[in-house]
Order: sequence, then structure tokens, then C-alpha cells
Amino acid sequence: MTTRTFPDGFLWGVATSAYQIEGSPGADGKGESIWDRFVREPGRVAGGDTGDVACDHYRRWRGDVELLAELGVNAYRFSISWPRLFPSGRPPLERRGLDHYSRLIDALLERGIEPVVTLYHWDLPAALDDEGGWRSRDTVECFAGYAAACFEAFGDRVGWWLTINEPWIVGLLGYLHGLHAPGYKDDVRGEVTVFHHLLLAHGRAVQELRRAGVGDGRIGLAPNLSPHYPASERPADVEAARASDGYVNRWFLDAVYRGTYPEDMRRRYEELLGPLDFVRAGDLETISEPTDYLGVNYYSFRMMQAVPGDRPWPWRVVVPEQVETTGGFTAGVASTAAGTPVVPWALTDLLVRVRDDYGAPPIMITENGAVYEDGPGPDGRVHDERRVRFVHDHLAALHDAIERGVPVVGYCHWSFLDNFEWALGYAQRFGLVHVDYETQRRTVKDSGRYYARVAAANALVPVDDA
Ligand code: FCB
Repeated sequence: MTTRTFPDGFLWGVATSAYQIEGSPGADGKGESIWDRFVREPGRVAGGDTGDVACDHYRRWRGDVELLAELGVNAYRFSISWPRLFPSGRPPLERRGLDHYSRLIDALLERGIEPVVTLYHWDLPAALDDEGGWRSRDTVECFAGYAAACFEAFGDRVGWWLTINEPWIVGLLGYLHGLHAPGYKDDVRGEVTVFHHLLLAHGRAVQELRRAGVGDGRIGLAPNLSPHYPASERPADVEAARASDGYVNRWFLDAVYRGTYPEDMRRRYEELLGPLDFVRAGDLETISEPTDYLGVNYYSFRMMQAVPGDRPWPWRVVVPEQVETTGGFTAGVASTAAGTPVVPWALTDLLVRVRDDYGAPPIMITENGAVYEDGPGPDGRVHDERRVRFVHDHLAALHDAIERGVPVVGYCHWSFLDNFEWALGYAQRFGLVHVDYETQRRTVKDSGRYYARVAAANALVPVDDA
């Protein structure tokens, strides 16, 4: 068997976000975020869990950097907490918060680990939410100011920036369904307004990085993308898949890469909502400011079935037991402990499609992972074979895409550590490293050991060698 090697300089990373791991919500002058607030509202988070302690990473970061070095990764994706730098969302700057990330970045670089820095991973300063949050266009300029401060402080050391994490999820769960902070249940107009402001914030950050002229950092968006498939060959299902693809993927990618919103979706929204008057002249130029790479968060596909007459969208997602793959064979579909279908081959389809439709931007997989609840056994180890298999199969799919000419520069597994999984609390474990929340003890899972071997070899190591 030939060894499946990855390109030279490939980035092998793991990912986290500030609110999910840091804890210490009041340390060093940090302001309140919408998540600090949301978790205190009864019934919002499973089990009443909060991120108040999480992985206590704000205090244990030095040990966690050692652990990253032990895993042998050469990239670490983390996010900066906006309210640690700007407690109220706008100046004055809180120096102590800035110094924290500065030390973290230095420690990573000392160990040869590239920082991949997300500017917005959902922890909006609560003071800005009081003024409308992402429903308000003013938040965009506050974000641009915060981004500019990050570029000025860290631009000489950070090679990889990500602007906004998963804008679709922010609008969908934060402002339409009310399942994530800030917990609003607006209508679709509210949701699409938020999408637009997040995209505008992305474009403004790109402009600020260029303007700062520090270092040679690359910048991109980190959307979650799901390839879509119709549940049957019926034209209605085919149309449902195309339309939902417009909602989830094309709305964001067309805006960033083509400087327009997709015509079919624009029409769909206008029929539902009337004129999209929150889109102003010049906005799409800002949104399509050229970027350097695309972050892709990939978890699963979406298989769509038409549900005529359903509102707001005449479709639903179906979870199939078997599917016909694009390779033309029928495959069973496993799912994670959270019920998410495990479909590695759809990642290849997705990446090839982004290459074909959007001019082959360099891609970094900025998230990919699965919930499996395994904990330490009697031998003290965590034998999470299903996650080992998940990692292997997704890397194989990624390698297939590279062989088909997709320029992939790196892969960051979600997640480095088990952590606070938003509204689902601590029950859902995504880490390559197990965290005992009572003692804060970290235990590298078998999947973490396997991933370390892959990173060391820069090649797809067979699972049996794990
Ligand atoms: C993504 C989020 C990330 C994490 C994973 C499981 O939607 O970006 O913070 O919660 O899902």
C-alpha cells in the first residue's frame, strides 16, 4: 500500500474557543459576554452548566501549551475573547487581557506551534448586545476597532487569522431559534440581518489587517459548510437540496468570493421578507475584500427532503441509515453519540466543489470532530476507538481532495480538550484530550495519541498502528 503523505509544511492543529475552555469570567478586568449572561438564565443550558470554570485554561494555559507540544501539533487554533480586550466592546483597551494572549502566542511560537487566531467565536461583549448586538450595524465598526487592536498587538507574530466563526450558526441558533446566546427568537428578517452584519464585520476586519501593514498574516472566514444531497431523485427533493445549500453555504461563499448574494436566495428572501434594505451600497465590495484562505468547519452532510408548504422553509433534514455515495456504491451511515451522521466522503465532495465554484482558495479545515463519551478505563487510558476511526477516515477523505488538486494547507481537529459545548453543556465530549472537570486532570485519549502519530509522520498512519 502506498503511504498517503500530506504536503510539506502541512499544518496539523487542534482547535478550541475562548468561552468553551477559559473559565475565569471576571479575571483581569474582563467584561461580561453574552454567554456569561445566557448561561445564568434558567433552562438555557443542559444541566445548568456554565463556562465559569470550563477547563480553567485561562489559569492553566502554560500546562496546556506543554500538552500541545507533547501532542506534536504544529498549529493551534484558539479564539481571543473580545470582552477581555474591550470589556464594554469599545475602547478603552484592557491591557491585562491583551497581555494574556500575547504571552500565549509567544509560548506557542517558542515551541514551533503556529497560532491560528479566531477573532469572533461567539462571545460578544454584553454591553454591545444591550445596544442591539449583531442586529445593529454599529456593532460592525466596534468589531473592526477590536480587530485592528489585535492586528496591531499581535500582527507581527500571528500568521493565520480567522474573522468570524460560523456566521450561519450565529444567526440561526443565536437570533432565530434562541438556542445560543443572545437567545433571541427573531424572524427570518432578523436572522438574515445578522448574517449580513457578520459578513460585513468579516470584510471590515480584512480591510483593517491590510491597513495595519504589520507582518504577513493571512486572513479568512471560518464558515461551517455542509454539502447537500437530495433524499431522493424527486425534483422537489433536488430543489430542496439546492435551496438549503443556498441558505447554508452559498449565501456566505458567493458574498465573499463573488461579491454578490446568490440570485435564487435573494429572490427567496425578498418574497418572504420584502426588500433587504439592510444591504447598503458598497457592502458587498467590503464583504468580498480579497482574503488569503478559507477556514472550513466540517461536521456532516445535510440530506434534504421537500416538505411543501412548511414555513419558513419547505424542507427538512433527514438522517438516512444508508446512502448512495458519489462513488456510486451504497454505504451505511454511522452516527456520533450526538446523532450526527458520520460521512467522511462528503468532505471530499465539499472541498472539490469549493475549488470548482470559488476559484480554488487555499483551505484550512478549521474544525472537524465528533462526540463520543468515552472516559478513562481501569488502565487509566481512554480507549476511544470510534474517534480514532473518525479521525482516520476524515483525513483519508481530506487526502483524496488534495489528490484531486484541492489546495489544503492544514487541518485543525475539534477539539484539543473536552470542553463546554454551548447549550449542551459538558455532557458532550469532543476532545482528543479527556478533561476530568472535578480535578482538571487532562488525559490524552487514544485518538490524541493516534493524531500525534499522524502529525509526526505527516502521513495517514493506519489505525491498527495506533
Ligand atoms: C461548532 C463550533 C464549536 C464547537 C463545535 C462542536 O459549531 O464552532 O465551537 O461547539 O461546533
